Amino acid sequence: MRLSPARRFRGRFSLPGDKSISHRLAILGALASGDTHAANFSSGADCASTLRCLEGLGVRIERTGHTVVIRGDGPERLRAPNRRLDAGNSGSTLRMLAGAVAARPFTTTLTGDASLRRRPVERVALPLRAMGADVETSNGCPPLTLHGRQLRGMSWDMDVASAQVKTAILLAGLQAEGVTTVREPSPSRDHTERLMPLFGAALERNGLQTSVRGGARLRSVQTTVPGDVSSAAFLIVAAVTLPDSAVELDGVLLNPQRTAFLEVLRQMGAEVETLVQAHEPEPVGRILARTSRLRGVEVPPALVPSLIDEVPALAIAAARAEGRFTLSAASELRVKESDRIAALAEGLRAMGARIEERDDGFEIEGGAPLRGARVRSFDDHRIAMAFAVAALGARGDSEIEDGECASVSFPEFWQLLEAGCG
Ligand code: S3P
Repeated sequence: MRLSPARRFRGRFSLPGDKSISHRLAILGALASGDTHAANFSSGADCASTLRCLEGLGVRIERTGHTVVIRGDGPERLRAPNRRLDAGNSGSTLRMLAGAVAARPFTTTLTGDASLRRRPVERVALPLRAMGADVETSNGCPPLTLHGRQLRGMSWDMDVASAQVKTAILLAGLQAEGVTTVREPSPSRDHTERLMPLFGAALERNGLQTSVRGGARLRSVQTTVPGDVSSAAFLIVAAVTLPDSAVELDGVLLNPQRTAFLEVLRQMGAEVETLVQAHEPEPVGRILARTSRLRGVEVPPALVPSLIDEVPALAIAAARAEGRFTLSAASELRVKESDRIAALAEGLRAMGARIEERDDGFEIEGGAPLRGARVRSFDDHRIAMAFAVAALGARGDSEIEDGECASVSFPEFWQLLEAGCG
């Protein structure tokens, strides 16, 4: 993708549905009885992978425009897939589905693209084994093969804050005997906990601990997916870093477990306002962001799990800020769709920024003017979009290699970026 510097970035946008919520609605809808309608379902390739895998398990799914209808018939009607299920680039698909099928009396193999086949899955295999499933990984990575068994409820202490792993355990727990409890080391996104009760699951939350009782029959739901706040992050950073700019985003997910990056941007001096207009099952509302004078900050480590997907966007804001920006406690970035610490360091350096890599984060000495460059995306959607935003504020043209990978989460990205610059 070729990009020229932009004079400003302005616009009012409604965004396609949140990726994390769309995955969960599709999977819970498949386990429920009846038709689950999800309007404004994510348009990204990742959620399409989830739908395709569910179809491979015999679930009927219909799409009309942006609405997806999942014709669920209870977990016992899932059937053995006749080939490996391909999760594409999507860690959420692979890890969450592992939990959903672990109690089914058949064998399922889940795999994905080259990037996904390098990502750790033992973190999901271990608790599922503890519940009684027979799970094989390939040296801790996909393909992951599950021989489903009758599961027993258990209590599990997670050592990494991972909402995907938490969700996999709770999805398995829905189909296990007795109660399954999971405890996280620090809070991660809680969409599963918010959605399961809507479907009729018996779920209890107590601080960092969540329990679900197995055996409840789930009912279908009708809902609209809020706009994806992780996609919003790129447009917000464009608006706060470019002159004469402002964006208004309507109907966006404002779950506090997902908006920590806005807190950090505000600490950096960004003029960002949010207005919550609905609360249940998820807070949804409007975000306004405009041109701001930014300064570097130290990101509080406790916030990291709640802004992990927004680090690429934040790094661009940091490069455009005055002073030092420090991120630590973020080693999970090394095992995302790419090694995001290394990818950000390489691209930002190519554009003239001063960045030092750390094992678990980085330091950016902001304020150096960015110059246009050819930047590698490592086929990672969030890296491609982050550098596209950086390119708008650079001197000279840039090229983002394999920029089409943005469609993994945000196929409309390039079009909206152009509209905002116009
Ligand atoms: C997600 C959880 C996070 C996040 C991913 C989506 C989810 O991953 O990075 O993009 O929807 O549960 P981890 O569970 O690996 O932290």
